[in-house]
Amino acid sequence: MIDTTHTAAPPPGPRGAALRVAVVVVAAGSGSRLGAEVPKAFVRLADRPLLAHALERAGRCPGLVRVVVVAPASHVADALALTAGVTVPTQVVAGGAERSDSVAAGLAAAGDDVDAVLVHDAARALAPPSLFAAVVAALAEGHPAVVPGLPVVDTVKEVDKHGVVVATPDRSRLRAVQTPQGFDRAVLARAHADAPPGATDDAALVERLGLPVVVVPGDPLAEKVTTPRDLAVAHAVLAGAGPR
Ligand code: CTP
Ligand code: MG
Repeated sequence: MIDTTHTAAPPPGPRGAALRVAVVVVAAGSGSRLGAEVPKAFVRLADRPLLAHALERAGRCPGLVRVVVVAPASHVADALALTAGVTVPTQVVAGGAERSDSVAAGLAAAGDDVDAVLVHDAARALAPPSLFAAVVAALAEGHPAVVPGLPVVDTVKEVDKHGVVVATPDRSRLRAVQTPQGFDRAVLARAHADAPPGATDDAALVERLGLPVVVVPGDPLAEKVTTPRDLAVAHAVLAGAGPR
């Protein structure tokens, strides 16, 4: 199902043959808001690091031919050790200072022999295989860029620099977007070639090109681990105490 709230453009049509997909898992951040002693992707959730949970699920993506993990330069070997269970060719590359630098490094390693690239945050460690499948299905329909998103539950205010409200956007038109975000490989390469520094959202770079980005239904399991509280919530979810 495609949520076309944000675009009037019809899909350009199905591609026919199954897509060849590379998944880039970005795991090179420090996790400053989590405040652990190791980079966030290497923080344990139950029995394994967040990155291992993310790889287990990303490794079941339909059409998958390659996985690229982007790790802190200090943790390339540790990341490689966590890729053992992935059944397609997998490599680990060092990331950069900003998330967009890390995505660019992963994209360069993803190869130009794939049709589509899914960019996924290791911090969204419990994003299920069904979410990867939904993104790939929408790409296979011909959409150049696909992001999962959930309706926003709180009313959102736009404020000025003094904290005074300047607008209240209609909540029914808003989506909180997640990863994996899927792209036609050439489109993502073009978007990154033209990117301003410090972009935190790959889809926004595609929007800058004037191309449509479609939103498919997100999944609460794909929420990002940012703070210690998020880690506790993820632990409860894994233990079966939360939504599955
Ligand atoms: N990321 C990355 N390279 C960076 C920054 C972030 O690969 N230079 C990755 C993180 O590892 C994470 C994802 O991008 O999987 C989302 O970023 P975020 O949740 O902000 O993680 P951190 O930047 O590590 O956390 P913080 O902002 O709290 O420092
Ligand atoms: Mg960050």
